[in-house]
Amino acid sequence: MTDNNTTPQPVLRLNGITKTFPGVRALSEVDLALYPGEVTALIGENGAGKSTLVKILTGIHQPDAGQIIVDETPTTLADASAATRAGITAIHQETVLFDDLSVAENIYLGHAPRGRFGLLDWARMEEDAREILKRIGAAINPRLPLRDLGIASKHLVAIARALSVQARVVVMDEPTAALSQAEIEELYTLIDRLKAEGKAILFISHKFDEVFRIAERYTVFRDGQMVDAGMISDVTEDQLVEKMVGRAMSAIFPVRHATPGETVLEVRDYSHPTEFADISFDLRRGEILGFYGLVGAGRSEIMQSLFGVTKPSHGEARLNGRALSIRTPADAIAEGIVYVPEDRGKQGAITAMPIFQNVTLPSLSRTSNKGFIRMAQEFDLARHYTERLDLRASALDQTVGNLSGGNQQKVVIAKWLATRPEVIILDEPTKGIDVGSKAAVHDFMAELAAEGLCVIMVSSEIPEILGMSDRVIVMREGRIVSQHPRDGLSPEILVREAAGYGATAQKESAA
Ligand SMILES: Nc1ncnc2c1ncn2[C@@H]1O[C@H](COP(=O)(O)OP(=O)(O)OP(=O)(O)O)[C@@H](O)[C@H]1O
Ligand SMILES: [Mg+2]
Repeated sequence: MTDNNTTPQPVLRLNGITKTFPGVRALSEVDLALYPGEVTALIGENGAGKSTLVKILTGIHQPDAGQIIVDETPTTLADASAATRAGITAIHQETVLFDDLSVAENIYLGHAPRGRFGLLDWARMEEDAREILKRIGAAINPRLPLRDLGIASKHLVAIARALSVQARVVVMDEPTAALSQAEIEELYTLIDRLKAEGKAILFISHKFDEVFRIAERYTVFRDGQMVDAGMISDVTEDQLVEKMVGRAMSAIFPVRHATPGETVLEVRDYSHPTEFADISFDLRRGEILGFYGLVGAGRSEIMQSLFGVTKPSHGEARLNGRALSIRTPADAIAEGIVYVPEDRGKQGAITAMPIFQNVTLPSLSRTSNKGFIRMAQEFDLARHYTERLDLRASALDQTVGNLSGGNQQKVVIAKWLATRPEVIILDEPTKGIDVGSKAAVHDFMAELAAEGLCVIMVSSEIPEILGMSDRVIVMREGRIVSQHPRDGLSPEILVREAAGYGATAQKESAA
């Protein structure tokens, strides 16, 4: 199909697109072509300019220079509705949805079906929403207010919204970051269907396995420039990574020699009315304890409860032998326990504030002196943590809201590490972070653990679990299935136990 002589005409072509923000050239004369019935993967480090391009394609930003050509016609995408009219729709990295509206309203906001007198046709809107949710395999009631849904479901609503527009170009900016494995499979099926319908798809992801699974073509951005493009079948993963970061690198995890010390945190019979039950584990000084499980296994809920966001119905936690009574996150922070949530966009940073203030905000007592905040000290503290996490920003007084998605995540991690907690709980610490920066995050975690920091790492990425943990707890349906030392663990064991095949087999053999 991609025989050179019969290469189809691109549906959309970008020529020499340039976009500058104050102090940052986000895109520098980039070219891109999207073909009908094909997926083009756009890859690049955090801050490379991917989301900026998406925003230009959807009329949110205007390019400073360059051409957008839709079906051979130079086009201006003056605003979001112009992009919709041109047949371009997107699922953005930070989903723009409204908590107070219903699922159906969120899907059809701005393009709802209208009846005879131009009035909203509510019944049809709900019916259509139901249909489209069914099409993507999402069991979500279109009448529910959006606020009642979890992150993954909200993301599915965003996907449904993108599909409700009759589009020829579908842009997906890290669509799988918030989805469970089953939902990711549904999304792949859906992408296949969109391909079969002849739609051109631009797919942004930091996960190379999925890029190789679903994309025909690739385009690599580095520092706002298009450095390479071609057919996926002509490259290997290592080659792509090299093009992306500009040097050869392999996903090597830090070698760790530390032997965990005394028990710091003891959790006993921790239970919640609906989310988890009978959770008991210990965490030792300098240990990295991995929590593996499928999305929805209750891992985040346990961590939120330890952090004082929700109340356990039963059970206790001890820190250095002393019973803890944590009712609010402030109590937890005062005890030296911090939690870096998965949903860092909402719970993490104050986007209107500069990077350095975000980082030092919870540690202010350490940098302030008789009420006066020492700026220089604040800067130093922020610089130390952000450099170690490979944060890419033009300056530390840059507003967090202007950082790329992955760099915003690094700010939130830096902020909590800077409080020098005794126990840090990291929920999917490298979600949305590019391969090069991932290594920086992992190295820093290992170094802090060696200095005595106790780490709980919730992760759904098996290489990360196996590469970083001293010990791994596997969870399923709100319960601990098993605890393993890292040695001897394999991906097969993790997958089997998390999905429950192992347990069934054991029960059967016991019976
Ligand atoms: N509104 C804005 N104002 C100022 N700078 C911005 C703005 N939006 C993006 N930038 C800057 O443009 C550059 C590219 O950011 P972009 O969000 O496109 O990166 P990305 O490739 O999507 O990265 P990630 O993988 O982290 O999502 C970054 O340096 C970012 O800080
Ligand atoms: Mg982005």
